[in-house]
Amino acid sequence: MIMTLGGALLFSLFVSLSVTGQMPQTSPQGGVKKAEFVLPQKHESRLTSAGQRGQALYEFYCYLCHGKSGNADDFNSYSLTTPPAKFADAALMATLSDTQIQTVIKGGGPALSLSPQMPTWGGVLTDKQVDDVIAFIRTLSKKTQ
Ligand code: HEC
Repeated sequence: MIMTLGGALLFSLFVSLSVTGQMPQTSPQGGVKKAEFVLPQKHESRLTSAGQRGQALYEFYCYLCHGKSGNADDFNSYSLTTPPAKFADAALMATLSDTQIQTVIKGGGPALSLSPQMPTWGGVLTDKQVDDVIAFIRTLSKKTQ
């Protein structure tokens, strides 16, 4: 079989794509160099194991109202007449004790004379899961990036 130059180039492109999964980049020296990417540091990597468990629960039960990063900006945040608490707000979080947060999570908004639009999670989450969620919520106002 006779390979044309174009065919040979396409073939080597195919090989390098299937080997590296990335488009090859030509280095200034003319050789083919694998592209290097620096992945941004993930927030998860700084979480304790309680925080990681809490994050999974938060991203299942809470984020749609309170926002993935605690800014009350997700798809259900704006359909409520009472704006959900912003856990990214360090000034707000400083006023809330863990006991207060536990009370409102387990008993819902009315347990602290807040809006019933904050649901009751006492029958859904165990006490340990509530503590895990609190460990995660606390990290949202401490993000440095
Ligand atoms: C259906 C929307 C919705 C969901 C889901 C939801 N919340 Fe809320 N939450 C609210 C609203 C609205 C408020 C504000 C109540 C108020 O200020 O009167 C609130 C308030 C709170 C507060 C009280 C903050 C304060 O100012 O005292 C905490 C803590 C809280 N939510 C935690 C959670 C956790 C943890 C979850 C998930 C397990 C969750 N919420 C899920 C709507 C929601």
